[in-house]
Amino acid sequence: MKLAVVILAAGRGKRMNSTLPKVLHGIFDKPMLQCVIDSAEKLRPSRIIAVVGKNFKEIKKSIKPGNILFAVQKKPNGTGDALLRAKTLLKDFRGTILVLNGDVPLITSETLKKFLSLHRKGRNHISLISFAAANPASYGRILRDRNSRINSIVEDKDATEAQKKINEVNSGVYAIESGVLSLLKEIPMNIAKAEYYLTDVIGIARNKGYKLNAYRIGLEDELMGVNTVSELLKARKIFRGRLADTWIKKGVIFFDHDSVFISGDVSIGKNTTIYPDVCLEGRTAIGSGCIIYPNVRIVDSVIKDGVVVKDSTVIEGSVVRARAVVGPFAHIRPGCDVGSEAKIGNFVEIKKSVIGDRTKASHLSYLGDASIGKGVNIGAGTITCNYDGKKKSRTTIEDGAFIGSDTQLVAPVRVGKGAYIGAGSTITKCVPAMSLSVSRADQRNIEGWAKKRQSSVVSRQSSVRNKKSEVRKRTGR
Ligand code: UD1
Ligand code: CA
Repeated sequence: MKLAVVILAAGRGKRMNSTLPKVLHGIFDKPMLQCVIDSAEKLRPSRIIAVVGKNFKEIKKSIKPGNILFAVQKKPNGTGDALLRAKTLLKDFRGTILVLNGDVPLITSETLKKFLSLHRKGRNHISLISFAAANPASYGRILRDRNSRINSIVEDKDATEAQKKINEVNSGVYAIESGVLSLLKEIPMNIAKAEYYLTDVIGIARNKGYKLNAYRIGLEDELMGVNTVSELLKARKIFRGRLADTWIKKGVIFFDHDSVFISGDVSIGKNTTIYPDVCLEGRTAIGSGCIIYPNVRIVDSVIKDGVVVKDSTVIEGSVVRARAVVGPFAHIRPGCDVGSEAKIGNFVEIKKSVIGDRTKASHLSYLGDASIGKGVNIGAGTITCNYDGKKKSRTTIEDGAFIGSDTQLVAPVRVGKGAYIGAGSTITKCVPAMSLSVSRADQRNIEGWAKKRQSSVVSRQSSVRNKKSEVRKRTGR
């Protein structure tokens, strides 16, 4: 059976009290609408149509490029009108149309698959998913007849006190056979809101004798609609809990999974421990047996097995190889490859640099555009001066070199294998292998200098005192 998906995303989102279109508010790293699209794509439909409002350019820009078709509803005249806007793009389509709300972001493809198979088995013209809401006030209530068959849906604004007590609500997920789409034109305008309610199609279809069903599958945690900021926060919490659960099942150890953010494209190996307030974002792959200490943010990076990332460290677009130790307070900027068992310590910033295996840069350094070999020691305060104001140049340090503390390496420059640089040097020329290079001024010791200074200070102070007392005597003050 053929499947098309229509996602309604053109509403004003007034209750969000924000200038950002509601469906672009993020569930962490992706907008709500993208969450819905991702679940829809897993069903492999023949097309996905997003019905968007006048801000559709902004929406288009924020959605991953894919095979999404856009239908524009210029004025938000209600959900019934929104679905009608997709009709032109469905003209040639025969089959089941799955209608989703762009503000129901936690919906999973598993529930949708189950729903579609119930819809097909029941040979229904229209089906929907209902659920029991703890607080049904912001949803349409499902009205059933004495035989428990769905009669219609009533929105909160139009519900009687007795109807308001019903806790079975409409999720906004419908399966509609293309043959009955013409019923949309029969939806009358709702007087209370001056909108065309898609929910009214249920009553219309029922009166015409079409086969309908409301399936109570799925829980509120998955089917909740997000209309307000507090609902958005709740949805994020649920989403985060859901992600953490999957990682816990895969053997990841958390201390406080509620404070951790892990985006959907991240992978984590077994026995990796994650402390509170860690963000793992983008296409990041963490190996097994790693320890990620608090306040660490890792974006688009590969962290191999057994790596330790200490507190307050940022790693972006880089590879950190097995058993390396990074941080605390380190910044690994894009384009770095940190070798296995290497150490990047306190307040070290590296950028577009290769750091060889077992190389150590333990304190306060900047290494940019550098190729550093294996077993190199980078002393505290080492700086690669990679930028002359116009262009960037590379620094090469070969295996086993020893760079003394407070060295500036003015690129382009090369330090040969096993060479030593004396502390405090400014290196502007290449250093041959196995040599020592020192560029600081020679030390001069001036014996007795401090003593002489002390006695000259004492005599200056006593002459000032004498002058003051002379003045006092003269003036009588
Ligand atoms: C809707 C349903 C309600 C259901 C709830 C589930 C109607 C009338 N009510 O209520 O029964 O319980 O969803 O969460 O359908 N939209 C448009 N164009 C419009 C109006 C809305 O595209 O003119 C889109 C919105 O962007 C949103 C979705 O449709 O993604 C639902 O609209 P919303 O206004 O949030 O409806 P609810 O009041 O939540
Ligand atoms: Ca809603």
